[in-house]
Amino acid sequence: MKILVHENELLFHLQGDKVSYIVQVVNGVLVHQYWGKKLRDSGNLAQLPNYPTQANLDMTSQEYPQYGNGDFRVPAYQVKLEDGTRITELLYEGYRIVPGKPELKGLPGVYAEQDEEALTLEITAKDAYSGLTVVLSYSVFAGSDAVARSAKLVNGGEKRLHLLRALSASVDLDVSDYDVVYLAGAWSREAHMQRRPLGPGSTRLESRRGMSGHQLNPFVALASKGADEDQGDVFGFSFVYSGNFLAEAEVDFMKKVRVQIGLNPFDFDWVLEAGDSFQTPEAILVYSAEGLGGMSRTYHKLYRTRLCRGQYRDQVRPILVNNWEATYFDFTADKIEDIAKVGAELGIELFVLDDGWFGKRNDDTTSLGDWFVNEKKLPLGLGNLAERINNQGLKFGLWVEPEMISPDSELYRAHPDWCLHVEGRRRTEARTQLVLDLSRQEVVDYIYDTLSKIFSSVSISYVKWDMNRSLTEIGSAAAPAERQGEIAHRYMLGVYELMERITTAFPHVLFESCSSGGGRFDPGMLYYMPQTWTSDDTDSVERLKIQYGTSLVYPASTMGAHVSAVPNHQVGRFTPLSMRGDVAMSGNFGYELDLTKFTEEERVEVKRQVAMYKEIRGIIQQGELYRLRSPFEHKETAWMFVSEDRSDAVVFFFKVLAEPFGPKASLHLKGLDPERDYVVEGVGTYGGDRLMNVGLSFEPLKGDYASKVFRLKAVSSH
Ligand code: DGJ
Repeated sequence: MKILVHENELLFHLQGDKVSYIVQVVNGVLVHQYWGKKLRDSGNLAQLPNYPTQANLDMTSQEYPQYGNGDFRVPAYQVKLEDGTRITELLYEGYRIVPGKPELKGLPGVYAEQDEEALTLEITAKDAYSGLTVVLSYSVFAGSDAVARSAKLVNGGEKRLHLLRALSASVDLDVSDYDVVYLAGAWSREAHMQRRPLGPGSTRLESRRGMSGHQLNPFVALASKGADEDQGDVFGFSFVYSGNFLAEAEVDFMKKVRVQIGLNPFDFDWVLEAGDSFQTPEAILVYSAEGLGGMSRTYHKLYRTRLCRGQYRDQVRPILVNNWEATYFDFTADKIEDIAKVGAELGIELFVLDDGWFGKRNDDTTSLGDWFVNEKKLPLGLGNLAERINNQGLKFGLWVEPEMISPDSELYRAHPDWCLHVEGRRRTEARTQLVLDLSRQEVVDYIYDTLSKIFSSVSISYVKWDMNRSLTEIGSAAAPAERQGEIAHRYMLGVYELMERITTAFPHVLFESCSSGGGRFDPGMLYYMPQTWTSDDTDSVERLKIQYGTSLVYPASTMGAHVSAVPNHQVGRFTPLSMRGDVAMSGNFGYELDLTKFTEEERVEVKRQVAMYKEIRGIIQQGELYRLRSPFEHKETAWMFVSEDRSDAVVFFFKVLAEPFGPKASLHLKGLDPERDYVVEGVGTYGGDRLMNVGLSFEPLKGDYASKVFRLKAVSSH
């Protein structure tokens, strides 16, 4: 990792592990010169082709393009001046390089634990007329191919500015013949992989829901034609934010692609008083010469080790049982204790009490905001229940949905203006609930105090933080008219402040975020909560696609995956317990069903699964993922995890439907040490080179919904 500055040519060469990123100042303009495979820092870098003239901005590759001076492509930012004009012209002012990576105050972000782990370049450019100054920040990390980018916009003038657009990163690339790869879906069908050719015009991926959303993940990649899991060039863009986002790839008349990612400018209008500054969230850019697999592993390592925080970051996660699909709202303390008791016998480590323990909540129509125990269900209180669970040998976890308020709640009756709303207009309810106005400090403080009281009075080891609706009527009773366009982002800043304070106050608690499943599965959330409930769809066949797609950006340690009952509650499918277990074991493992209903045979199988997961979870949660076969392209799915030292591996293979004369049961493994031999449990001993080049062959699996797990252990170094 280095940042090399060629002072004469004003050229900045950032080097990561295997990547170079080059910016140059030409005639005052911040020109994008290169991003890709690492280059030697030879004297000729400035000669890379470009169009370094002010007159031809429309054809110049730029780093933070503006609007109004002859570049007609989509700009990276836009401000409105007090005179009503919207034109600015940024010209280079200076730069500085700082060790490590400065924190983005109030925002999630990748971090360096030691200054030696990262280097940050800050380039400043200014619009002389308005006084607007933009500081572009670029960080590179030791041993990584990621570049973190963000922008700070400072009003250095004397008059108020309106920020209408402020993206985090913009890059102009010569790759218009590439494919665009992204994750799309819906509730219970999250993160389905999409791939299609770029073409003239724009590909826009965005959220206008006030949350990142089930529909599109804040991520986009450009992949060279034919790039696959192992080879080919891929440029990834991941946005560390949980609210409205925009990721756009615009192919222009010169066949260049402008790729941008950041806050969605839609409905965004931020007042920047003289002297004020606005920090954008950050984008993590990853270049991989090793296809999508290489890109994913770069994201996985960075997000697992330097985005997630807290004591659970490096610890194996507990196996849990959650009562949602077991009981829904209908439970008693005895019922919960019974489930926990069986859980203890099976080796499960944590019980999670889901929705319905508070206020008068017996369905989803009431009580959000009334975070006091429902005495009808739990007459002796939460503390007593936690104690009973603990006495069974399990830790106790609790569900909350703190960002919400039910119109039928004591909180709403006391503070009807504490929800997001626009005075005089209908308040759109979804799941019979409204969203608290977390742009208001007193609301954040109230929720913090309320949660703190519960978390400190009950023995809680885990919290599931849910969020079950998108934002509507985004307005705040506390904000003046000219600041109403700030509320969607201010809401997210309030959520982040609340999460920061709570997770700091309760460092021993493992937090999992959730948003009707994966509605907010994004890097922003992972900064506060190191795992996310991947999807409300627990069907193991559906989960193959959901977990495969999610793994494009996010590591297995972040993906909650549970075994649920059959027929499956979302799709009605019957799959065997073995496949349900194998799919869920590929993530952060747990159960979500009534354990007391197991037959003796099922108990034996679950005991085996739990014991096995305890042996392999270190490899899954902290190892490297290699995707072997895609459920989006094949009838079979396979993936494998390899420990960092490559001495252990676990291979998962799934066959949804049986086929007569199906293809040979064989998998080319990946990521092993070619020089070492591996014992494949129950199969034999083979060289890593053989397993990767010839493949691992096995007896074809019989029947529908079949799965198989292979465990590999290295036995030698040669
Ligand atoms: C949505 C979550 O995704 C579910 O797991 C469950 O917690 C329900 N909310 C409870 O209301």
